[in-house]
Amino acid sequence: MNTIKLELEKALGASAQEQLQKIAPEVEKAIATLYEGNGVGNDFLGWLNLPAEIDHKFLTDIETTANSLRRKCRFVVVIGIGGSYLGAKAVIDALSSTFASYDANAKTQVLFAGHNIGEDYLADMQEFLKDKEFGIINISKSGTTTEPAIAFRLLKQQLENQVGKGEAQRRIVAITDASKGALRTLADNEGYKTFVIPDNVGGRFSVLTPVGLLPIAVAGFDIRVLVAGAQNMMQQCKTAPFESNIAAQYAAARNILYRDGKKIEILANFNPKLHYLAEWWKQLYGESEGKEGKGIFPASVDFTTDLHSMGQWIQEGERTIFETVISVENVNNTLVIPTDKEDLDGLNYLAGKRVDYVNKMAELGTQMAHVDGGVPNIRIVIPAVRENCLGALIYFFEAACAISGYTLGVNPFNQPGVEAYKKNMFRLLEKPGVK
Ligand code: PA5
Repeated sequence: MNTIKLELEKALGASAQEQLQKIAPEVEKAIATLYEGNGVGNDFLGWLNLPAEIDHKFLTDIETTANSLRRKCRFVVVIGIGGSYLGAKAVIDALSSTFASYDANAKTQVLFAGHNIGEDYLADMQEFLKDKEFGIINISKSGTTTEPAIAFRLLKQQLENQVGKGEAQRRIVAITDASKGALRTLADNEGYKTFVIPDNVGGRFSVLTPVGLLPIAVAGFDIRVLVAGAQNMMQQCKTAPFESNIAAQYAAARNILYRDGKKIEILANFNPKLHYLAEWWKQLYGESEGKEGKGIFPASVDFTTDLHSMGQWIQEGERTIFETVISVENVNNTLVIPTDKEDLDGLNYLAGKRVDYVNKMAELGTQMAHVDGGVPNIRIVIPAVRENCLGALIYFFEAACAISGYTLGVNPFNQPGVEAYKKNMFRLLEKPGVK
């Protein structure tokens, strides 16, 4: 089961139903625009039915490629930035053992590069990979993004030096456009195995394409279950009426709160494995909604860690925020707090209780405190951090984002603002042809 629950009572208060009914016609119009495909950005709706279009043959191709990389490589470097890495990173971090990277016996591990231009980062990586068996998945939809291109040039040369050009060709996979861009040309010239990012799927909506699925499969996780979770959620989002459609309700609540002056949404988790899910979510909502002088600013915190850093601000700072908590019903382990004969730390009152019970009480206590402090609280409850739930959660957030963006009155599928820094950077770097 991957049933995700959405709780809005602590966000919209006693008049929740009234407020939802008021905004319902606008949200329903946004939903109609989305599914009829007649809104702005409608050439980027490939993600909408994507889970249903994924077939056995395609998944087998991904799995076969992943297994071949796993057989050869102890480390696989996923090169990409923004939507070309965040989804995979989010899912892999959520499903991996927290300390897997310190485990010398762990199977193939996925590393990430090309999401910054840190010389030290890349030098550290090169040093680390020296004499190690590694491979590369190079991901760029446009095929021209500077950050991944630099990382790829460096790591490709290193790999060729370490294993020879022929073997390097067998250890490099490119995921890019079907026909255009520098990465497509390079991949075709070098004879790399390639996967295509469909034209009509934007970067931040591409987790369920090879962009997310191949790295996740390389990390050893079950992409079929992930996709099944997304398929299930896709059906729910498509068929449920407004009142029971959680994507529509989340989109509605966000717009109600935004209109009421709540300009910042803080996505909170009480499970540190979800840190990168929030990073992925920030990109999804930030790039989709932040335009034309509009849009909720997406922020994130990891609780209880950040209650000791951001807790004060959230409790008593400017009242322009609301909180969306991803709550995990069941953790994957059982850990009981032991009794201590001396009880010097005074913790015996918790002896015999599960760590997760304490965490849940922290979650409840935080919700009560923040709501009392004037911070509306949305709860998204997932059964567990497992492939099927993550697949469902990803699709839920994507659908809600599109509905929310249309309700806000923006094109949720473009990102014109991202070009501004690039223009200046290219000019400063004296890139040929840039004035
Ligand atoms: O969501 C987006 O479209 C962007 O964040 C891109 O994913 C990001 O800029 C990377 O682009 P590309 O895959 O073309 O290298």
